[in-house]
Amino acid sequence: MEMISAVRGFKDILPPETDKWRHIENTAQAVFSSFGFNEIRIPVLEKTDLFRRGIGESTDIVEKEMYTFTDRGEDSLTLRPEATASVIRAYLEHALHGVEPVSKLYTIGPMFRRERPQKGRYRQFHQIDVEILGPDAPYTDAELILMLIHFLSRLGLKNLTLELNSLGCAECRPAFREGIVQFLKGSEGELCGDCQRRIGTNPLRVFDCKVEKCGAVIAQAPLLTDYLCTDCREHFAKLQACLDRFAVPYRLNPKMVRGLDYYTRTTFEVTTEFLGAQNAILGGGRYDHLVRDLGGPDIPGIGFAIGLERLASLIPEQEGWSPAAPQLFIAALGDRAVEKAFSLCNRLRMKGIRTEMDYGGRSLKSQMKRADRLNSAYAVLLGEREIEENRALLRNMRTSTQEQVGLDELEETIIKIAR
Ligand code: HAM
Repeated sequence: MEMISAVRGFKDILPPETDKWRHIENTAQAVFSSFGFNEIRIPVLEKTDLFRRGIGESTDIVEKEMYTFTDRGEDSLTLRPEATASVIRAYLEHALHGVEPVSKLYTIGPMFRRERPQKGRYRQFHQIDVEILGPDAPYTDAELILMLIHFLSRLGLKNLTLELNSLGCAECRPAFREGIVQFLKGSEGELCGDCQRRIGTNPLRVFDCKVEKCGAVIAQAPLLTDYLCTDCREHFAKLQACLDRFAVPYRLNPKMVRGLDYYTRTTFEVTTEFLGAQNAILGGGRYDHLVRDLGGPDIPGIGFAIGLERLASLIPEQEGWSPAAPQLFIAALGDRAVEKAFSLCNRLRMKGIRTEMDYGGRSLKSQMKRADRLNSAYAVLLGEREIEENRALLRNMRTSTQEQVGLDELEETIIKIAR
């Protein structure tokens, strides 16, 4: 019969890759917790309007990348393309702002965007998403970025670039928008069709266009940073001073606008030259009006999301993690030996010792090969002769040394060396 394959752009994560992911997630949990963050778990399906309003009608995500369907002729639902809008929906729905002035939340899970799949770009991908809701002080921006950099260094990542920008606020952004519209109108003929349309709908999106001739126009464009109001300027300077105090290197990139419309003031990305075209491991920024735009009070926020697939691909094999391996492999041959091994194996498992055996009746030699392939720390050899003589051979696979152990002491001996 014909085999059914996974949907294009939807990827299986197999062991030992899953061990690496668990290492990343455990490290995130530990680091985020010490910075005062709590986990939130939110649904993958939301009402479509949440993302239309949250991310912005004229973004690529909302215009062409969402998995949207009508649920039995009633609601329009969408598989979440990102987590920020959902976190805020939950924050408002459960009135978390009424309990605490500051909410520091993180969530890890799958997101869905119907982009063209390629290396580092999938239609189901995973994010580690972090949000701080409540404060607007630049110290908040600094604490979030410091935590992020600390997290990446705990994972042993090097050669990363932190790119930083400020997108201004409701005071100064309109002037910039006007400036950029005037500039773009002057070069309208040199822009691609999409960007010509963007002049009227969302001129900042032109900065993100990958078409070469648009890039050439943008290279001459006025810079956002030249339009910042005094408050935004001071906010941005304070953030930089905090990062300097911790010797965090960054590169100011006044052309970075980010692909979602909700950002105000601080925005940032971490990029690497090792990922080719999909060079952003993560992106984030401040969104001081998103909570209000989603129907809540005027509460500012800031956050970021890391692409887990991209992050994992940068962590080398065995760097701070190793594929799960048995502590013990029991190679048994003959009915009586297998029966004894089966009991021992499951008793040890119940005591928390990762133990493997096989029931296939293969030669002791091929079973030992399997123990080796599984990278087991120890092996027990139990054949008919060992049963007769009431002993087993306990082999240390790392040092290739072995000793005879009486069957009555075997379990205790293993527990002692495995702990
Ligand atoms: P974003 O820049 O759209 O931001 O996505 C963040 C990260 O998710 C990207 O840097 C990338 O690593 C990963 N990513 C995005 N699309 C894909 C894809 N198709 N395949 C693989 N990885 C992908 C956001 O989503 C914002 N919600 C971040 C944020 C949180 N801003 C404030 N709070």
